[in-house]
Amino acid sequence: MSIQEEITSLGPWFHNLHLPTGEQTAPHHTLGDFPAFKWRDLQALIPADLSGWRVLDVGCNAGYYSIELAKRGAQVLGIDVDPHYLRQAAWAAVQFGLADQIELQQLQVYDVARLDREFDLIWYMGVLYHLRYPLLSLDILAQKTRRLLLFQTLTMPGLDDEPTPADFSLDDRERMLAPNWPKMAFIEKRMAGDPTNWWAPNHACVEAMLRSCGLRVTARPAHEMYLCEPDEALRQGQQWNQSEYLAAVGRAWQPAVAAKIKDKNPYMSPALGE
Ligand SMILES: C[S@@+](CC[C@H](N)C(=O)[O-])C[C@H]1O[C@@H](n2cnc3c(N)ncnc32)[C@H](O)[C@@H]1O
Repeated sequence: MSIQEEITSLGPWFHNLHLPTGEQTAPHHTLGDFPAFKWRDLQALIPADLSGWRVLDVGCNAGYYSIELAKRGAQVLGIDVDPHYLRQAAWAAVQFGLADQIELQQLQVYDVARLDREFDLIWYMGVLYHLRYPLLSLDILAQKTRRLLLFQTLTMPGLDDEPTPADFSLDDRERMLAPNWPKMAFIEKRMAGDPTNWWAPNHACVEAMLRSCGLRVTARPAHEMYLCEPDEALRQGQQWNQSEYLAAVGRAWQPAVAAKIKDKNPYMSPALGE
């Protein structure tokens, strides 16, 4: 089979890969040369030499970003729920001679909680709004990030933002109607004909969620894109939530952990069975 025939048999493609042989996988993409035009906004922010870096590409699709990051020397784990895209990514990794550096697994983003590894860089673009449980995914990935997390999501219009209050009264709920209040719109049916588009946060909500997961935004290279670093002080602020987190990711609630958390939080109720 020729390369062009292989491309056709593996289609349809969402990523327009520019293959070393000159062919492209989706040259007539409705979004243009996607995602090359997004990568152009990001490439200068990421270290040119990623030797020794472990990268996780969540929702890797056909592997455009996995390939670019592997070209810089990273060892990449690409995960996706869709075997159709993983087949494309596996084929593409071979075309670029990068199969040794790109491991692919069919996993849900939530499965990352049970991986026994951390990552220097987590690439988390174009997935959050497809999830029913978006904040859980960010909690999981934040805990697995050693150095950098690159985040992108579909958002509501507007860039209003200001510090959120430390506390506010039940009678003061009107303030949540302000444009700069963190909000996430729920899409019950479809957006753009896609029933998997569930949530669209506004910019303030993206920043607030990232902080709440222990991530500090260090750069906003383009619309809807956020480069983050783990921040220990922010991370500590999230400790109270550990029992809910463990239950949500299907890890056993351990009384020993409960006791440790209770020392820090006198308002917490006793664990079941205590
Ligand atoms: C809009 S595409 C984004 C692809 C790529 N990350 C990018 O930015 O170009 C969303 C991708 O996420 C995958 N996906 C959707 N839900 C997922 C989930 N729960 N866990 C992992 N991947 C998921 C889809 O199969 C698809 O490949």
